[in-house]
Amino acid sequence: MQPLHQRCSWNATESMKANRTFNIQTFGCQMNERDSETIAGILAQMGYTEAGDRKDADIAVINTCSVRENADKRFFGTLGQLKKIKEARPDFVVCVCGCMMQQEHITDKISEKYPWVDIIFGTNNIHELPELLQELSRKRKEFGTDIRSFSRDRHREVISVLDQGGEIPEGLPSKRRYVHKAFVNIMYGCNNFCTYCIVPYTRGRERSRRPEDILKEAEALAADGAKEITLLGQNVNSYRGLKNSGETEKSVDFADLIYMLQEVRGLERIRFMTSHPKDLSEKLIEAYRNCGSLCPSIHLPVQSGSNDVLRRMNRKYTREQYLLLAEKLRAVSPDICITTDIIVGFPGETEKDFEETLELCRQIRFDSAFTFLYSVRKGTPAAGYGGQIPEEVKHERFGRLVEIIDRCSAEKNSAFEGRTEKILVDGPSRTDPSMMTGRTPGFKLVDFPGDVSMTGKILDVRITEGKTFSLTGEPLNSQG
Ligand code: 5AD
Ligand code: SF4
Repeated sequence: MQPLHQRCSWNATESMKANRTFNIQTFGCQMNERDSETIAGILAQMGYTEAGDRKDADIAVINTCSVRENADKRFFGTLGQLKKIKEARPDFVVCVCGCMMQQEHITDKISEKYPWVDIIFGTNNIHELPELLQELSRKRKEFGTDIRSFSRDRHREVISVLDQGGEIPEGLPSKRRYVHKAFVNIMYGCNNFCTYCIVPYTRGRERSRRPEDILKEAEALAADGAKEITLLGQNVNSYRGLKNSGETEKSVDFADLIYMLQEVRGLERIRFMTSHPKDLSEKLIEAYRNCGSLCPSIHLPVQSGSNDVLRRMNRKYTREQYLLLAEKLRAVSPDICITTDIIVGFPGETEKDFEETLELCRQIRFDSAFTFLYSVRKGTPAAGYGGQIPEEVKHERFGRLVEIIDRCSAEKNSAFEGRTEKILVDGPSRTDPSMMTGRTPGFKLVDFPGDVSMTGKILDVRITEGKTFSLTGEPLNSQG
């Protein structure tokens, strides 16, 4: 079989037409952001350039998320908008991909009701995009581009969705959003089957990349100017890579991988997401003490503070174990910023369960939290649980939770006032070009006056104000 990294090779002369453009809209998590960088890299290698607005693009790609139900609604709304472009320009190519495409009821609905979609591909089929475009061009020659003439048996869309990813494709091209920082996938899929979550059904079983491949990618990124990498996986703590070691293969765990990566010259900051509390090892906690480049921040989703809810969520830890982890992390890294995800209104959640979540938040004092209303996902165990919580109860609880979370974030952030922090500068603020934004080692967002030449540098910034969602500061120097 041909190695996967060669399968996306594309001869520029095969490109559909010269000067063609693409636009990608990405929903969801960092894994999807990273996948979109790969899709952009593949299209760029085929000779396409990026268009700022999809109305002007020849190819529109929608990379979808299926974690919550409102994402589905937004996606179908977006497809409705694309129809108008298609009517005006029949050559317009509509590609949809990402987690939603891994669900058969979604692809069936698209085939049936959205004939202006041209290509559907799954999370394990990204490298096939050049072939899929070629196939589309062949079908268009046969069937034309007038969507009114399509029918069920004159199937015009090209579909490629693999349930499970096999061998991980290496060496795919990438069009990265930043030079100074980058996402690096270390594993794909999830084996945990939390009862509310669709991801194990859409992203398949866990597969870890080989440590050599990750190291090679990190070295190349650092050589190109990356100072920070964020290692990505649904549950990075269960990373298990196999490394060639003479005759045998050696197993490398997540902490080993961090120790390996901290040797990469030029890499000053290593981050990762997401961690599952049940797999957070002592060895990883120790790495916060020993690895200077491992940033003092951790995103550690707790989901609920009630042991009964945690058990029914199949999370496999208790609130006491979670509290102990936070204590251990703070013992080795006193300034560590701990952030979390919390679901409100899981089926059967009582007022007492919810109060336990509030109490846990007061005890831990998270730096910030993503809070979600429980949303039924078809095919997951919790979708069939009794005791679904009425929307108004969910909303009322949500409001109380956010109040505590925000108060705590504001208090944590105001404690930074007067401190000097090392900020990796991302660039000008979207709302005010005279302000720059960047991140502290703990991943707090900081705005400060400056100019675009600061982008990608690590600067000392004195924090003047800590607000609920960000910090404001004054730069002390402009050394890179
Ligand atoms: N409903 C609400 N929130 C969910 N999440 C995952 N599935 C659901 C769901 N069905 C949240 C979890 C997870 C985050 C990425 O999304 O908190 O950590
Ligand atoms: Fe979903 Fe749980 Fe896997 Fe996270 S660990 S992706 S919440 S199943």
